[in-house]
Amino acid sequence: MRVIFCLIWCCLWCGVSARFKSFTSLVGIGEPNRRPSSIGTSLRAATLNFIREDFFDQKLDHFNPTDNRTWKQRYQSHSLHHKIGGPVFMLLGGEEKISNAWLKDGSMMEYAEKFNAMCFQLEHRYYGDSYPTDNLNTTNLKYLSIKQALADVAEFIKVKSQNPLYKGKWILFGGSYPGSLAAWARKTYPNLVHAAVSSSSVIKTRIDNIDYFKVAEKALTDYNPKCVSNIRQATMMISDLLDSENGTKYVQSKFKVCYRINTNVKKDVRQLFQQLSIPIAETIQYNRDNRYYSNMEKADLSITALCDIMLNRALGSPFDRYVVYHKKVRHVLKRRCSSYSYQSLLQSNSEINWHGQSVKSGDRQWYYQLCTEIGNFVTSNEDDHLFGNNIPIDFFIDLCTDVFGEHFDLNKLEKAVHKTTMMYHGLKNTTSRVIYLHGSFDPWNGLGLTEPESDDSISINIEGVSHCADLYTSSPKDPPQLSKARETVTFYLNKWLTET
Ligand SMILES: *[C@@H]1O[C@H](CO)[C@@H](O)[C@H](O)[C@H]1NC(C)=O
Ligand SMILES: *[C@@H]1O[C@H](CO)[C@@H](O)[C@H](O)[C@H]1NC(C)=O
Ligand SMILES: *[C@@H]1O[C@H](CO)[C@@H](O)[C@H](O)[C@H]1NC(C)=O
Ligand SMILES: *[C@@H]1O[C@H](CO)[C@@H](O)[C@H](O)[C@H]1NC(C)=O
Repeated sequence: MRVIFCLIWCCLWCGVSARFKSFTSLVGIGEPNRRPSSIGTSLRAATLNFIREDFFDQKLDHFNPTDNRTWKQRYQSHSLHHKIGGPVFMLLGGEEKISNAWLKDGSMMEYAEKFNAMCFQLEHRYYGDSYPTDNLNTTNLKYLSIKQALADVAEFIKVKSQNPLYKGKWILFGGSYPGSLAAWARKTYPNLVHAAVSSSSVIKTRIDNIDYFKVAEKALTDYNPKCVSNIRQATMMISDLLDSENGTKYVQSKFKVCYRINTNVKKDVRQLFQQLSIPIAETIQYNRDNRYYSNMEKADLSITALCDIMLNRALGSPFDRYVVYHKKVRHVLKRRCSSYSYQSLLQSNSEINWHGQSVKSGDRQWYYQLCTEIGNFVTSNEDDHLFGNNIPIDFFIDLCTDVFGEHFDLNKLEKAVHKTTMMYHGLKNTTSRVIYLHGSFDPWNGLGLTEPESDDSISINIEGVSHCADLYTSSPKDPPQLSKARETVTFYLNKWLTET
């Protein structure tokens, strides 16, 4: 998860828009790849016929009985594998629009086939086509919260399970932020949610997420320690170049900036480093994750590709090699230039209409969630960090204030994050029937719940894979420990489905 879950933002991979040229956060999990050709085309065609899309009448405010405003929440369903009496599997949407690719492929569908499950996918309020309010000004955004989103899930289950067809046990699935939602929903509504499969979820909330780049660094170090030191060196060389006007021009031409960098504006410089860090972060976060790439070249943005370039002396200095990798990213994403301007970031995130670019991509909404409840901002703020001290927490706090108003400051965020932490503290030792999966290369794994103490929840660490790897379709190329994790999920689903 755009959880910090895929907190990390839009969507280098979703290819959302060529117009919006800055990388937003490391968010979203994109789409799964297609199942290997063993599945016949006729079955694929049949699958399409079994996918339905509809809207569900949902309350705007679940916690104010005098407010009876409603809105339409988008959901999709798939009944091909369903047999009467079977369970109901629901994949939760998160900080991006839902894609029906997840009802054709992906691991939930593989489990559904085994367990004859009915399948749903529910879009998260405020994302995709699920518009709870007229616009996204701060008055309206106050209904965008984890608590309301969980209540949406509960309401959906309550109403749908009145239908005799869907009386079976409901099991929630989700990856990244939706993975957290799945676990929290199991905790909050245990009578409605029988069990949860929580992939790469981020449960430990904090404001300053310094762990992200530490794990990222470790993933690169495992490949080759020099890869990390060369990236650090490139960062230092950029800092030095920015000290002179001439050097700044050089940096601008090498990284193909859309707008001139004003080195007198500190936020522009930070935005530059933050933006340069995102393709590297995403490369690691989504390293070889079995996603379906309409653009096959994207699969080529991997730790191996990155480090092979950073280690290749023939390409010049570490700065030159860094330029080569960023050029490769621009090429794959078909981008002529990249925006590193703080002002343009601010402008796009201040858009309040549903058809605005940063609203469609979910960026504004996600920033709001980060600024009000989630935090977990990915920072690099020490000389020996992967990107030096160029991405401090103030950068993000300032962004919260600049986008949403002066009340959205550190103080507010501290209180909110404290509340989020407390509210879900119990997940650790009181919630049963949750399975947490994490990849050892996933930079988010430091914030995952890796030691649930409840006797009936388990956590699996999958060596050598990255974010949400288990959520994508299985493949003969999966490492054995990933295949084993999938078997473990099957084992527990089987066990839990026989429990009342
Ligand atoms: C909402 O509630 C108010 C007051 O309780 C009532 O007058 C109004 O008709 C209700 N609206 C709808 C759509 O039910
Ligand atoms: C936000 O938009 C609503 C209309 O949906 C309006 O009533 C409200 O006053 C606006 N709030 C702000 C702060 O502009
Ligand atoms: C500006 O930078 C270029 C390339 O680094 C270099 O060749 C040139 O001598 C520099 N000019 C000045 C005035 O520093
Ligand atoms: C959960 O853990 C906390 C501290 O780790 C402890 O204070 C609390 O009693 C535990 N609750 C249960 C139900 O075991």
